[in-house]
Amino acid sequence: MKHLLYLKELNQSTISKLLAKAETFLSSKNFPPQEDKNLQGITLANLFLEPSTRTRSSFQIAAKRLGADVLNIDDQHSSRVKGESIIDTIQTLEAMGVNYFVIRHKERGILSKIVASLDSDSHVINGGESVDSHPTQGLLDLLTIKKHKKGFDQIKVSIVGDIKHSRVARSLAEGLTIMAGKKLALIAPEEFKPNMEFYPKAEHYKNLDQGLVNADVVVALRVQKERIENLTETMSPDDYFEKYGLTKKRLQLCNEDVIVMHPGPVNRGVEISDEVADGANSVIREQVTNGIAIRMALLSMMQAEVMK
Ligand code: CP
Repeated sequence: MKHLLYLKELNQSTISKLLAKAETFLSSKNFPPQEDKNLQGITLANLFLEPSTRTRSSFQIAAKRLGADVLNIDDQHSSRVKGESIIDTIQTLEAMGVNYFVIRHKERGILSKIVASLDSDSHVINGGESVDSHPTQGLLDLLTIKKHKKGFDQIKVSIVGDIKHSRVARSLAEGLTIMAGKKLALIAPEEFKPNMEFYPKAEHYKNLDQGLVNADVVVALRVQKERIENLTETMSPDDYFEKYGLTKKRLQLCNEDVIVMHPGPVNRGVEISDEVADGANSVIREQVTNGIAIRMALLSMMQAEVMK
């Protein structure tokens, strides 16, 4: 685990260890804990070339809690606006001794190119690439599910919304497959139906109510307008909510102890109602907290391998 680009690169044993380690952090009296400082003397750089609140902040908090120094590169005020390529920027930071790069980028395959260009022993972690991969989001989603459900192989997970443009859905599906998840329902209108080759074990539903029946976990997704070329809205936000919005009434189709997840940011009144987003079944804020724990676990385990 020198780099983490795709969740599918990890095996079940590694994911289980990451989840267990994250749970030990979460069980600390003062979360996030400060005592495990195995990133002392290490520098982590966040390079987010797309907007982020949760991922970038939680990597910063996680790395600092582990004793690292953190650089947040502000892309809009960096020399990239003068024409420097991302590869040259990374190599420049590498020459300054940066050890870990957390990178978010819209270009498919850019993370592999960056890894190939590295001169030193530095590490690359994918903070979200194109519509393909967001591995630490997948891990925090697995952690959230594990904390509430008995086993990945015994539950039905329903993902609702713009799945075609969702790297969150892709990474969660990869993680569920590795963890022997058996039932995955993808609920989306035709324009948001993904290439099902990426979801070999899943079933697609156009009808929200049908896809929600007996779900144990529901993941609502935002419509990713920024990724849709030639956006012509076939449905108004109100029509979309009518057909695909998660409401309290619709939640009754799921199992009683269903948990409702959302990677954020949430568009209230479009993919989810206020009462569901803030309701008793919602674990949306818990996902955010779990994001710090899983990123601490990842950094801690990657660094432990370096120290071996
Ligand atoms: N879930 C997620 O990636 O959120 P941010 O875009 O705020 O990082």
